[in-house]
Amino acid sequence: MKNIKVIYPGTFDPLTNGHLDLIERGSKIVDELVVAILLNSDKGTPLFTVAERFEMISQSVKPFDNVSVMTFDGLLVDFARAQGAKAVLRGIRAITDYEYEFPMAMMNRKLAPDLETIFMMPTEQYTYVSSRLIKNVFELGGNVSELVPPLVMQRMRARLSQKS
Ligand code: PNS
Repeated sequence: MKNIKVIYPGTFDPLTNGHLDLIERGSKIVDELVVAILLNSDKGTPLFTVAERFEMISQSVKPFDNVSVMTFDGLLVDFARAQGAKAVLRGIRAITDYEYEFPMAMMNRKLAPDLETIFMMPTEQYTYVSSRLIKNVFELGGNVSELVPPLVMQRMRARLSQKS
């Protein structure tokens, strides 16, 4: 019997309902799904530390028995290989995502020909949702409560009240 393990990598700063939707979809078609948080992202100052993101994601994926959370550094393909993963899962919302994802998938294939990249689309309701937009709108006072898990919303509010 094959045990198909797949890595869902990202920055997840913060986890959105779009990510969670993809996690749920992914968990239904693989044996094991590992949500892998990149440790040293070059995306500038994060809203949450990796430890905070780890905790929020761990809580949010509790309903899914075959989903775990890890962190990784260095090349994704090395992490995937070390984990014995068969594929990487990524979400595609719009054509612009494809332009970002395609070279990464091809580079990963060049580096690790046996590792597949699987793309899945989130539910239509979250196709415009990104962590970047969530942070931006929230910091400007917009309501994003329907777009992130309740725990993330709670932590974002707490972070804002710490700042002020
Ligand atoms: O959520 P993000 O920020 O779009 O995720 C990007 C991520 C983490 C998938 C990508 O930056 C990555 O894999 N980084 C690890 C370093 C690496 O392997 N780089 C080469 C990829 S072609």
